[in-house]
Amino acid sequence: ALTSVGFSVVGHSRSFEGLTYRQKKAIADFNPLCVPPLLYNPYAKRYRMPTLYIQDTQHEFYPGKKSYATGISTLQHHGSYLGPTIKVKRGDIVDFSVVNLRSEPVTNHWHGLHIPGRLDGGPHQMIHPGETWNISMPIHQEAATCWYHDHTCGKTAEQVYFGHAGMFIIEDKNSVLLGLPDIYGINDIPIILQDKLFDAAGQQIYDLKPNRVFTGDTYCINGVANPFISVMPGLVRFRILNASNARPYNLFFSDTIFYVIASDGGFLNQPEQVEKILVLPGERVEIIVDFSKFRGGMLDMKAVTLPSDPFDPDYITVTIAKIVVNSYQLKETILANSLRHSEIQRDFITNTLSDISRSFELMVDDELSKMSINNKEFDMKFINEEVKIDIPEIWEIKSLKGGHNFHVHGCSFLVLELYGEEPDNTLKGWKDTIALPKRIGEMNEGEYHTCKILVKFNYNTYRKEYMKHIESRSDINYHIPYMYHCHVLEHEDKGMMGQFIVY
Ligand code: C2O
Ligand code: CU
Repeated sequence: ALTSVGFSVVGHSRSFEGLTYRQKKAIADFNPLCVPPLLYNPYAKRYRMPTLYIQDTQHEFYPGKKSYATGISTLQHHGSYLGPTIKVKRGDIVDFSVVNLRSEPVTNHWHGLHIPGRLDGGPHQMIHPGETWNISMPIHQEAATCWYHDHTCGKTAEQVYFGHAGMFIIEDKNSVLLGLPDIYGINDIPIILQDKLFDAAGQQIYDLKPNRVFTGDTYCINGVANPFISVMPGLVRFRILNASNARPYNLFFSDTIFYVIASDGGFLNQPEQVEKILVLPGERVEIIVDFSKFRGGMLDMKAVTLPSDPFDPDYITVTIAKIVVNSYQLKETILANSLRHSEIQRDFITNTLSDISRSFELMVDDELSKMSINNKEFDMKFINEEVKIDIPEIWEIKSLKGGHNFHVHGCSFLVLELYGEEPDNTLKGWKDTIALPKRIGEMNEGEYHTCKILVKFNYNTYRKEYMKHIESRSDINYHIPYMYHCHVLEHEDKGMMGQFIVY
């Protein structure tokens, strides 16, 4: 039997618990963070998730002000904006039904999941208005913070902006034994970051200037504008997802360093202490912050980001959220110093491979109107690449300008080189989206922003598909393609995307 635990933690009432008068005054202009409900079945291995209903809704980004939005509901809860957080265990087989109650076609892509192309939810798996998409999803991969979002051809940016997105967490035997903060919504907090524009009535607007990407001037977490987050004075884990259309965030806290423990596809070998972490659209990063020395205090979650005009070269610093630390007494907890059973062996991998198998150049023409990869705009009917199962390959990604990133469906990859150098430690774990950030003043005219990644499609993910269709494996028409693209959503929609099959 399914237990679906739907709860909204850190709601309006309890968020003021344990706060001092001074703290309450400081957060007067901020709104309490909401946490999406959690769908989780800790017991069964084979089960059905509550059906996901994608619908047009009304949502309050500011208390008392209603805005058009897209939400994902279940029979147990009404989702006014974004979807519930889905949590599954490695080894599970999970049945999903996704119902489109909107008046436009949608798709529901599982970003970061190692699943066959048929289940991927990319532009080919359209769900028309009134239709239901039924799939059965095997979970083979290790613990990670992934997500799901619309991927409709040419419409992704707008549909994700209005709210068709949610978090997808995978746990495994290792992740539950590490002693990391894991009480959802309490010390394990999803942070779905988006920037928005609002009109005077509090309506969210998708105002896209010609040949620009969307950037807003208001920062939302989980659909709450200008949030405050009330936390316990101990270790807190934030699962940060940049679900913005285009905005990069170099995140930091006003008064403390923190630890990066996981990137897109799973844990790092060990926690990395940092002052800032760069998160581009599509990327996830799990961090641990120790709030024990801030009992009864406050700090800010901030970010260095680009100004609203992306051609203005100066970075700006913004406040994303106010954090208030309550005065509860907690037992001290210690962060594990090793995060994995089997470490990611980068040296071994990089020493055994050297040739570049494929090269992808992210291209923008001078009028900023045409976006492509290798001079080919996305075409639903054209398969750009054919990739063999289980054979590791080095892919090179280049672009003349920074500010793009590169996402590959259906796998996790390792970053071998970024801008010709070994990547820093926070990028040495599994990734599925890699940033080619803007390096203002550092790059010469005509110099390529480059990155090399190691890609491999695991046999396990495809075993069943492969066995079923072993005779037809040379028939590429059978294989349902995956996408690779820039995750700046307006770039993707304009054609900076390609597709490949794995066979
Ligand atoms: Cu997050 Cu192709 O998508
Ligand atoms: Cu781009």
